[in-house]
Amino acid sequence: MKTPQPPPVVPRYLQENEPSQEDKDLISSLPTEKGWIGNSLHKYQGFWQATAHMQGVLACQKHFRALESDIILVTTPKSGTTWLMAILFALVKRAHYLDLRRHPLLTENPHVLVPCLELDVYTDKQVLPDLSSLAPPRLFSTHLPYVSLPDSVKHSGCKVVYLSRDPKDAFVSLWHFVNKLRPVGSGTMSLHEAFDKFCRGVSSFGPFWDHVLGFWNESLKRPESAFFIKFEEMKQEPALQLRRLAEFLGCPFSPEEETHGIVDGILRLCSFDNLSNLVVNKSGKLPAGMENSAFFRKGEVGDSTNYLTTEMVKKLDSITQEKLYGSGLKF
Ligand code: A3P
Repeated sequence: MKTPQPPPVVPRYLQENEPSQEDKDLISSLPTEKGWIGNSLHKYQGFWQATAHMQGVLACQKHFRALESDIILVTTPKSGTTWLMAILFALVKRAHYLDLRRHPLLTENPHVLVPCLELDVYTDKQVLPDLSSLAPPRLFSTHLPYVSLPDSVKHSGCKVVYLSRDPKDAFVSLWHFVNKLRPVGSGTMSLHEAFDKFCRGVSSFGPFWDHVLGFWNESLKRPESAFFIKFEEMKQEPALQLRRLAEFLGCPFSPEEETHGIVDGILRLCSFDNLSNLVVNKSGKLPAGMENSAFFRKGEVGDSTNYLTTEMVKKLDSITQEKLYGSGLKF
């Protein structure tokens, strides 16, 4: 006789909480496509949202009240969110953690220190989070497109930092990530299936190009509130970009800090080599159940050339050119 096995523990990121009737009605009225991780994607306000994310999206749109002192990191998935979370945390909280050998980033994954509004903060519609005790500046992240940001983020005067990445590398990174996250038994998603969906804009928080353009335009209109940066720029000139970020956030490095090498200290602390080799990031898990290691793969520019055929590169480049035409933005 077989011993009864306990039911498998489904990580939270694969669970779908029962939505309220109101949310169910909304979701059922939206265009729907098969998702990348076994769930569905729904086109809400022009962008694709996984069923599992809809509650969080709707709840944070309704309840989140941004403060003028808040800093919100916005990214398209797989643009280097984890890296910039670490950098922003180390940068704006530097006065609290002068000893970089005892820094919270050494024992916590950046996603815990800079929680995502729709994925981590507003996960339970019944229990709203109490954010009032968080010390300013509060740091949050989000993948929400500009149109879907909570109104207060647009009007409170808070600072938005937007990180983007060459869509070819973002796509290849996403494809690897999704295949790590797919439920056991559902197999891997082929590069071709993923590519077709990505090109049609059908990816979580996609279309990629519309997402990027929304914030690019905003950064041109309101440069004092929205800072636009690319992964490639961070890789190429990290110290210069870190100083620019510090200026934008109103916390420039003092001559004394410069003399003490704080800029290099932060960059070393947040480097791919350092973060990816920490015990917490090698073997820890996020509260939602994802392995922390899934957020660290290669951390390089141009790795997509190792996966995409010449035709695929041509196709993605031509979509990018067409979509960004006239915007002044290039990858
Ligand atoms: P690759 O898959 O190309 O290696 P996100 O954090 O938005 O999910 O993005 C993940 C991508 O950022 C992955 O890209 C990952 O390796 C890379 N990354 C994570 N931490 C990094 C760091 N400290 N420096 C540079 N890249 C990093």
